[in-house]
Amino acid sequence: MTKKFYITTPIYYVNSVPHLGHAYTTIADDILARYKRQKGFDVRFLTGTDEHGANIEKSAAAKGVSPKEWTDIVSAQYKELWKVLNISYDDFIRTTDTNHEHVVQAVFEKLLKSGDIYLGSYSGKYCTSCEQYLNESEILEGNLCPVHKKPLTEVNEETYFFKLSRYEKPLLKYYEEHPEFLSPKYRANEIINFVKSGLQDLSVTRTKVKWGIPVKSNPAHTIYVWFDALINYITAAGVGTLLCEEKAEHEEQLKDIRIEKFEDLWPADIHMVGKEIFRFHSVIWPAVLMALQLPLPQKVFAHGWWTVEGEKMSKTLGNVINPAELAAKYGVDPVRVFLFREVPFGQDGDFSMASFINRYNSDLANNIGNLLSRTLNMAAKNVGDLPEKIEGNYPLLAQAQTVEKAIDDAYEQLSFDKVLEQIYGYSSELNKLVNDKKPWELAKTDPEGAKQVLLELIACQRKVALWLEPFMPTVAKEMQKRLSPGKIEKYAPLFPRIDK
Ligand code: MSP
Repeated sequence: MTKKFYITTPIYYVNSVPHLGHAYTTIADDILARYKRQKGFDVRFLTGTDEHGANIEKSAAAKGVSPKEWTDIVSAQYKELWKVLNISYDDFIRTTDTNHEHVVQAVFEKLLKSGDIYLGSYSGKYCTSCEQYLNESEILEGNLCPVHKKPLTEVNEETYFFKLSRYEKPLLKYYEEHPEFLSPKYRANEIINFVKSGLQDLSVTRTKVKWGIPVKSNPAHTIYVWFDALINYITAAGVGTLLCEEKAEHEEQLKDIRIEKFEDLWPADIHMVGKEIFRFHSVIWPAVLMALQLPLPQKVFAHGWWTVEGEKMSKTLGNVINPAELAAKYGVDPVRVFLFREVPFGQDGDFSMASFINRYNSDLANNIGNLLSRTLNMAAKNVGDLPEKIEGNYPLLAQAQTVEKAIDDAYEQLSFDKVLEQIYGYSSELNKLVNDKKPWELAKTDPEGAKQVLLELIACQRKVALWLEPFMPTVAKEMQKRLSPGKIEKYAPLFPRIDK
């Protein structure tokens, strides 16, 4: 039986145009999804858009369209970007999908029945950009949100609460028993300390926000966007069918929900998220799942943030990097791979054109591309048609097994930078072989010797092309084509050098 691998991105807010930071989470998932497929896993890769809430209502009003029209436009922009970036997602969920709305309503009613959700009232400081109430300890001087540095709004309203406090101890126990759950390790402590400092019940409905999913039993309330959004991961896995079996409310509407068997997909193998939404995914979401008596995802991984030339990416600063523009100029694959070579996955990184061009020229044009051109040019003269199987006493080909093992280990840790270090390191050794053996000179005195070196180089680069595929699917396919059995053609350089 093939093993499933269920991987998710966060669902993206549709109140802004997608930029490089958004693409980062998605490309990371795409790399992992492609790698797992190579390894024979039955991959389900989910992404989508997060479409409710006051901010989206505001963005729509500012554009003079209805919220629905606005979400259609931006959701389509995301899909378009994912096409450009060659993202191989299997499923795209929108929180405005009717089946998702029914699931959220059914989950809410279920938790109301179990006593995990109750009606109360709230007064506190609210950040309209985070769509979140803040604790006194988090608020900056001058009544400002620590993330957006914007003034907070005083809110007083009737609201339903989720009994998050009930899950303080179970969560701590879970973290302890599943050390791989919160990842990377250096971000886990912050979460554990946060939970240890005491969890307060969470307000999960709004009476002032109209653009949201109404509570079935009390439609004056709409469901808090984060509560709605997190549930997407189980909607897409087919939790609707489970709720039906449990005779939940809305049995009728839930019937046409995604048809797979929920247990086949859930729990997710990984939720990939940025560091600023780690807490939602590692505290609130697991608590909701515990309340629903559903298993928890295997892992939540929080990556770092990209700045641009030292500054936060922002529309106001006008320094937002559009990945589609970058890709149009330099190719999609160089953009994809750069993000994971430059910075250890998990940590923050800074994007600069200079470092992009440096990496492109050294890693891609020189190390990978030039090696391929040289090898094929020499092979055309000294080997002739390329054979399908290349076997012999080739030390570097034998070494590929060790490299592959190191690559697998690095993927296990989600150390994409280490995967690339292995691949590029291996390719450097191939370059060294060319420089040491000088097949073009060897050919004059020992044609068979030269042929053997070139065959080894071809065999080894076939490996490289395979390893590069998750990062650079198009380029890797092209490499595989050029290295395939048969006649060697004349080719343009894989990565034309960029002049600074
Ligand atoms: N809608 C919520 C997620 C709900 S999931 C149940 C959300 N959306 S978002 O569009 O604001 O962010 C989506 C992803 O983009 C997050 O993982 C976030 O970390 C990532 N990034 C947005 N800007 C970023 C950078 N500048 N750098 C790296 N990633 C960042 O949060």
